[in-house]
Amino acid sequence: MKRTSKILELREIIALEKKRGRNIALVPTMGYLHRGHLSLIEQAKQTGAVVVVSIFVNPLQFGPKEDLSRYPRDLERDASLVKDAGVDILFHPTVEEMYPRSVITYVEVGKLDTVLCGATRPGHFRGVATVVSKLFHIVQPDLAFFGQKDYQQYLVIQRMVSDLNLPIEVCPVSIVREEDGLALSSRNVFLTSEQRQEARVLSQSLNEAERSLGAGERSAREIEKQLRDRISSQCHGVIDYVEVRDAGDLSEVTTIERPVLIALAVKFGSTRLIDNKVVEVENYV
Ligand code: PAF
Repeated sequence: MKRTSKILELREIIALEKKRGRNIALVPTMGYLHRGHLSLIEQAKQTGAVVVVSIFVNPLQFGPKEDLSRYPRDLERDASLVKDAGVDILFHPTVEEMYPRSVITYVEVGKLDTVLCGATRPGHFRGVATVVSKLFHIVQPDLAFFGQKDYQQYLVIQRMVSDLNLPIEVCPVSIVREEDGLALSSRNVFLTSEQRQEARVLSQSLNEAERSLGAGERSAREIEKQLRDRISSQCHGVIDYVEVRDAGDLSEVTTIERPVLIALAVKFGSTRLIDNKVVEVENYV
């Protein structure tokens, strides 16, 4: 595996691979890798492309009161994990390498930045879209892999690629869960054992919502209410949002008649967890 923290060096390595006729697949990450990231890598490898993993904790996507400094980091552990996973190139730039000057050019993602996680994390998706756009320009991938746990992020990137005509295929990868249903996240390490136990209610309540839809419930507000009731009665977490939205563009939904995203964010102490489920109502007609 080749590894570098330098943009110029990475460009040279990639140019060589492109000259050899190889496709490039990018798996962008912020490190502290877990099985969810490994499943992105696995899918990327299955395409036969040269797999590039980037590790960069992007300051631009953290708000002033968010957990940038306490975001977990362990580059050497990550490097050994990606090497064992058969990654071809690891790119781990410093903040100075990515942002040598203060940034004045951003990628704005309009209304997608104002709902769900965007409503409580203003500017977060602008930061994500900007750094991913930079990574796309640096790596010039043919394919890029994003986990569906961050479903809104996946939609933002898909929309950016479409709006800006970037010649990149955005590939979604299913959520990877612990045996008891908790979605894998680098932030799970911050949960106390009690919070970790209670956090099971997130996936359980999403499954229950899907069962409700299966049983004929079509009111988005009623599904949201059921989720809220279950979460607040079974854990000490503070609900940030619980929402049913259109799975294609995150627009508001009243009566569920097309594929919807059921999404939630709950804070356990200072650790904010998100989870979601996409439900195709056609499956239950
Ligand atoms: O999902 C993440 O880890 C980050 O938001 C990403 C896509 C690597 C951009 O910093």
